[in-house]
Amino acid sequence: MTTLMEIKDLKVGPDNNQINSILDNISFQVKQGETLAVVGESGCGKSMTALSIMGLLPQNIKLSSGSIIFDGKDLTSFTTKKMNQIRGKDMAMIFQEPLTSLNPSFTIGNQIAEVFKYHTNYNAAEIKKRSIEVLQKVKIPDPEEKLKAYPHELSGGMRQRVMIAMALACNPKILIADEPTTALDVTIQAQILDLILELQKDFNMSVVMITHDLGVVAETCQRAIVMYAGQIVEEGKVEDIFEQPLHPYTRGLMLSAPRLGSPKEKLHVIDGMVPDRENMPKGCRFNPRCEFATDKCFESEPKLEEIQEGRRVRCWNKLL
Ligand SMILES: Nc1ncnc2c1ncn2[C@@H]1O[C@H](COP(=O)(O)OP(=O)(O)OP(=O)(O)O)[C@@H](O)[C@H]1O
Ligand SMILES: [Mg+2]
Repeated sequence: MTTLMEIKDLKVGPDNNQINSILDNISFQVKQGETLAVVGESGCGKSMTALSIMGLLPQNIKLSSGSIIFDGKDLTSFTTKKMNQIRGKDMAMIFQEPLTSLNPSFTIGNQIAEVFKYHTNYNAAEIKKRSIEVLQKVKIPDPEEKLKAYPHELSGGMRQRVMIAMALACNPKILIADEPTTALDVTIQAQILDLILELQKDFNMSVVMITHDLGVVAETCQRAIVMYAGQIVEEGKVEDIFEQPLHPYTRGLMLSAPRLGSPKEKLHVIDGMVPDRENMPKGCRFNPRCEFATDKCFESEPKLEEIQEGRRVRCWNKLL
């Protein structure tokens, strides 16, 4: 598979403060047409990774080093104007809570039209026609009527479909979905995931699926990267990661996920919490919570080691 995006040594932190970085040397590739999962507990840096790629980091957070090569060009060298041209066109993102991402004072039609006005030369009639088409693609009933609706008049699932329609309006090469279904109830979640996958096939798009839900990973993704405290700790094919997690943190995540068919089983919990950036432990960042930690783990930080092509792990005591 060809590589569509290559992220290299990304370092992100509050206003260039390199010591307490939010993202520490994040490197990974996104292949054309694949669905890559980014998993990890709350606060480990999943959204910051997505926002760095999109050039949408909050004001007080800066990218201090690294590169994001997309279609042969380094996005980190792009001006705001150039980023605006590719954002929404070649790359698009959908967020967890569709109500906060849609503007409550404008109709759905107005908001979809904005995307076309920015990226195409369509006239009003073409915009309307294309808007109806994208709503049909995401299976919204009565699309022409829905163009006149305001966000609060739609259900959560319908709003998320609108967000997907807007993201896909200009046929992006990559879609970053940051917890796209967390705010929805279970049956709607499944429908939205199916929809994303179906559209991905139609468009041969790459998808980066950010989620803490391992069920979503198992059902929708081919490869996964596992993040912990701002670092990648493991990467591999989804089946390998599920069958043989190599990092104790990944193993903990697997054991803490409810398994189908055994809802009453007592779930494992990973004791302790993700360390905060002010008090990062010496050595491996996972050492205070790791049942396999040895002296070495408290002394020096393991590197992310490639043990096979596409299989990486950051651990002194890999679970081989
Ligand atoms: N605006 C901000 N200013 C300073 N630090 C921030 C800001 N936003 C996030 N952070 C910090 O960056 C780190 C990574 O946050 P991020 O939102 O990427 O986590 P996440 O993995 O997406 O978590 P979740 O699963 O809860 O969405 C956290 O430690 C968080 O406290
Ligand atoms: Mg997040």
